[in-house]
Amino acid sequence: MNPLFPSILSTNFFNLEAKLRSFSENGIDFLHLDVMDGHFVDQISFGPSLARAIREKFTFRLDAHLMVSNPEKAVPHFIKAGADWISFHIEAAGDAAGLLRLIRDNGRSAGLVLNPDTPVDRIRPFLAEADYVLLMSVFPGYGGQSFIPATLERVAQLKKEIMDLGSRCRLQVDGGVTPDNAALLMEAGADLFVVGTSLFNADDIAVRIKQFSNQLQWSRE
Ligand code: DX5
Ligand code: ZN
Repeated sequence: MNPLFPSILSTNFFNLEAKLRSFSENGIDFLHLDVMDGHFVDQISFGPSLARAIREKFTFRLDAHLMVSNPEKAVPHFIKAGADWISFHIEAAGDAAGLLRLIRDNGRSAGLVLNPDTPVDRIRPFLAEADYVLLMSVFPGYGGQSFIPATLERVAQLKKEIMDLGSRCRLQVDGGVTPDNAALLMEAGADLFVVGTSLFNADDIAVRIKQFSNQLQWSRE
């Protein structure tokens, strides 16, 4: 599995199909869909219909990051639209364990997201129910923000929690990820890397993906 998850939040939607074709030609497996409701975060982005449209044209697996209040209401729509992985914010969830179970019971991978100012140990009670944890390395709501350096310590702390539990939970990071910090994040314990601006603003996407692959010691072979 390619650990690079392009976030399509920062793209000009008129160029989206060409970008996705380029990702597909360069070994990208997953797309990260940044769903924003204008309530949990300021911005409004897109809904399940975009997931459905992408699935009709491409074979990417879809990782829906729900930056929404009442994620219990949104999750069934993304299950129906064909999202493969679905994550929601612990800050927004009522019954987080129950929602993780619902996602898993529907054959999807279930993720829990922590904002940069949410203590890592809040995740401890849910690690057994989560397939992945997403640590935000920016405050959610916008692409193109600067990486918060304290994330490295949080990644290391969470990785220790996961290892101590003997959990197979994967550790995803999202926000301000670049070829310059990806290797540091991987060394700290991150497995999966959401990248928006650094990919979509690249002059040559193939070159930028290669830069990331070199940093992450990932190859398609
Ligand atoms: C922010 C989003 C991130 C962001 C990543 O709320 O969750 O996925 O768009 O984009 P960059 O890489 O531009 O920070
Ligand atoms: Zn995201």
